[in-house]
Amino acid sequence: MKQKEYKRYLVTSALPYANGPIHIGHLAGVYIPADIYVRYLRLRGRKVCFIGGSDEHGVPITIIAHQLGVTPQDIVDKYHVQIKESFKRLGISFDIYSRTSSKIHHKTASDFFKKLYDQGKLLEKESEQYFDPEANVFLADRYIIGTCPRCGHNEAFGDQCEKCGSTLSPDELIDPRSSISGSTPEKRKTKHWYLPLDRYEPWLREWILEGHKEWKPNVYGQCKSWLDNGLQPRAVSRDLDWGVPVPVKGGEGKVLYVWFDAPIGYISNTIELFPDTWEEWWKDENTKMVHFIGKDNIVFHCIVFPCMLKAYGGYILPENVPANEFLNLEGEKISTSRNWAVWLHEYLDELPGKEDVLRYTLCSTMPETKDNDFTWKDYQARNNNELVAILGNFVNRAVVLTHKYFNGLVPPIDTLTDYDREVMKSVPSMASALEDHLEHYRFRDALKEAMNFARLGNKYLADTEPWKVAKTDIARVGTILNFSLQLCARLTIALEPFLPFTTKKLRNILNITETMPWTDLAREALLAEGHRLNQPVLLFDKIEDNVIEAQISKLKRTEPAKKDMAPALPECSINDFEKIDIRIATVLQAEKVPNTDKLLKLKIDTGLDRRVIVSGIAQYYSAEEMIGRQICILANLAPRTIRGIVSQGMILMAKEPDGKMRVISPEEGISEGAIVG
Ligand code: 2FM
Ligand code: ZN
Repeated sequence: MKQKEYKRYLVTSALPYANGPIHIGHLAGVYIPADIYVRYLRLRGRKVCFIGGSDEHGVPITIIAHQLGVTPQDIVDKYHVQIKESFKRLGISFDIYSRTSSKIHHKTASDFFKKLYDQGKLLEKESEQYFDPEANVFLADRYIIGTCPRCGHNEAFGDQCEKCGSTLSPDELIDPRSSISGSTPEKRKTKHWYLPLDRYEPWLREWILEGHKEWKPNVYGQCKSWLDNGLQPRAVSRDLDWGVPVPVKGGEGKVLYVWFDAPIGYISNTIELFPDTWEEWWKDENTKMVHFIGKDNIVFHCIVFPCMLKAYGGYILPENVPANEFLNLEGEKISTSRNWAVWLHEYLDELPGKEDVLRYTLCSTMPETKDNDFTWKDYQARNNNELVAILGNFVNRAVVLTHKYFNGLVPPIDTLTDYDREVMKSVPSMASALEDHLEHYRFRDALKEAMNFARLGNKYLADTEPWKVAKTDIARVGTILNFSLQLCARLTIALEPFLPFTTKKLRNILNITETMPWTDLAREALLAEGHRLNQPVLLFDKIEDNVIEAQISKLKRTEPAKKDMAPALPECSINDFEKIDIRIATVLQAEKVPNTDKLLKLKIDTGLDRRVIVSGIAQYYSAEEMIGRQICILANLAPRTIRGIVSQGMILMAKEPDGKMRVISPEEGISEGAIVG
């Protein structure tokens, strides 16, 4: 069937949460396939807009900020910059990489909600939600901690037990408590706005199940199962103070649900990039929109966001959503909290110049139809046995021989043999197979097909043996090398979407100044007779065992997740520091504050006075362990009343990324009242 020709291509890639660095799972799932696709489209001369950006809202970011004692903005500022930079270094060629905490996004998302509200497309409903009476805030499920009813783990979250993996609701937790204040949450009524997905069910069935049978089976299957189970209205607001404020009456203290505002980020970023013409990208049927995502995002991109766009009216819908499954690492699930991951920024620092080796390996093992595994051994084998032995070797032989026998000038074709003709005949069909794979999001097959140009070249050189023929028939050698160099030139096109750093190097070697268009792939003579080549450089180096072993042993060292380390705070002056009075004190008495899990009441000798401090350290120290211990205290902190006890000061603690706390004590006994500074 002939494909529809579109005027423009709007390609989006899931906006990653800006609360940690990018790892290889993100890359293989979303960003490598998206980048391959847009690079291919651009080579074809198509008009493309490739959207990326950080997703900076949502509860997890607020929890991390709360744990680290910084603001959510501090967290996203740090990771947005780091993520954007690392994508750039890997050659992910976004046309824009913006962020959802930007003004333009807040306005776009807010206006979108307001218009749906004004058109009566949202339902308004009251429901009961957990509330923290001490902190005076509604609690997201993640903020409620308690004992898991299934396995007894006493730090289970209100949405999931991380120990046994059960999905939970806060109602199921035994002894639920707020992770903000430690108090017992109570249920209170609150109002929210809902998108009535159920009303769109018949339309969705028609649009997806009838209209998009060509979607990947994993995507189509997940949509079908959601639709067969029946859709429910979905809340699109939350009681939270981090996000896009709900812009309607009664919305005070509430924000848009992160999954409502995040996909609108694709629109905001287009507006930021094309303030005058963005509508042609989003509202013209001649635009093809494709969303690249991981499998956990399918429902939001195939069901929720399309319903939002449909409800709003006038927007185009995605033509395809080629979601991938997950990538594992050395046989285990990637885990950011266990630091079981290969982090992109670390890879780029530790293995400089090997950007394309990662791109190649991740494309070769892309989890297109099922979960797949990345191993460092496989990475090494793909580099040594494929990139070095097939691609690098072919190019090097063709170029070195041309320098040796023809002074680096592309030799003329003398007479073509039947074998030459037969080999040449396979080129157009290889080009069209490659194209077909790329058009249909089969990137692993596409890469194999692109590499077939190098395989073909190697076989051709091995079969024709120009180094032997040179002794008797130099004209024949010219034909062989001309033919081989045309294949090298084709490789600069075929591999450009996958290995952009390598194709740039290869163009330099071949002295090709500009990227050749896609249609040249099937052309016969890409390099003219007499064209001068540059000196060869190796495209790839062999990777030795010690490099791989170092990476494996680094992985196996179970470091705490670096992503959770507190970002650096803004600079302060010595004057700021001098305002705080830190002293050494000795704990005289200690006891648990009744009816609490976390609080100890400590009587201390500060050298200045004897006073009481209430501290949330009971999870980490028993009262007995604290008695007699020397500690550091912030002595001039304004008194606060905690559980009816006046607390005069604060104990200085060091906090691990996992939340575990240790008190800070002098190495040896020192007088109470000694100044720390
Ligand atoms: O799963 C995630 O990482 C989300 N931040 C993806 C959002 S995609 C889009 F909606 F922005
Ligand atoms: Zn459990």
